[in-house]
Amino acid sequence: MANKLSRARPLVIANWKSYIESLEAAKAFVQALKRRKELGAEAWVAPPSVFLAELAKTLKGTGIKLGGQALSAHEGAQTGGVSAMMLKTSGASFVLAGHSECRAQGESDKDVHAQLAAAANAALAPVLCVGERERTADGAHFTVIEEQLLSALRGAQSLAAKLVVAYEPVWAIGKNASSAMKPQELEETVIFIRKVLADALGREPARKVRVLYGGSVEGENAAELLSEGGVDGFLVGHASAKLDSFVEILNACKK
Ligand code: PGA
Repeated sequence: MANKLSRARPLVIANWKSYIESLEAAKAFVQALKRRKELGAEAWVAPPSVFLAELAKTLKGTGIKLGGQALSAHEGAQTGGVSAMMLKTSGASFVLAGHSECRAQGESDKDVHAQLAAAANAALAPVLCVGERERTADGAHFTVIEEQLLSALRGAQSLAAKLVVAYEPVWAIGKNASSAMKPQELEETVIFIRKVLADALGREPARKVRVLYGGSVEGENAAELLSEGGVDGFLVGHASAKLDSFVEILNACKK
């Protein structure tokens, strides 16, 4: 089925996780990325936060946005914490919240809710990550996704204008294209997510929220997931840490 909901220009976010370990390699990556012309999608990059300030200088004026991979909603006495304001003043314009790898380390729905508020206070666009750990035939994943969305967005209607939602089924993360979600299954889930967003935020504001898919997106499956899956783009992990595979995904999004 053709994607009836897709917007003009897809968005692809690179979630570098801890793959790129030196500032030198990170700078070389973004310098090469900004030289690539006519990318098929809008590109955002979430490097480790310690690289943000330096990469922000390299990317100034390019339209490629930088963001944080996580944030701490606590300020002050929080050893190792990186707050929304620290990210903002280091050059971030967005931040991931509720990534499953952070939830696995104990982040609760309550924490994610607080992170969205902190992101909004610092004028960062929140990229809210949701997704079930496993998929069973009884449809329990719908309940998981709905609860994650509703608890994060409770009372947060004002966030809608900048909000991006990344649907990342945990079972599909960190594998390869053949283990990613199939487009038809994705489309069904994305329709559900859009319905929950409409109920939570109101129909018009919810329409502006971009819904991305993440979980083993590679050059091989990106075009089909985009055209058949009903998403507005992708949140990419391992394949975003190598320039060629990231650019391949960006260009697979060309209409
Ligand atoms: P992956 O990671 O592309 O390596 O599956 C996606 C993510 O966790 O954001």
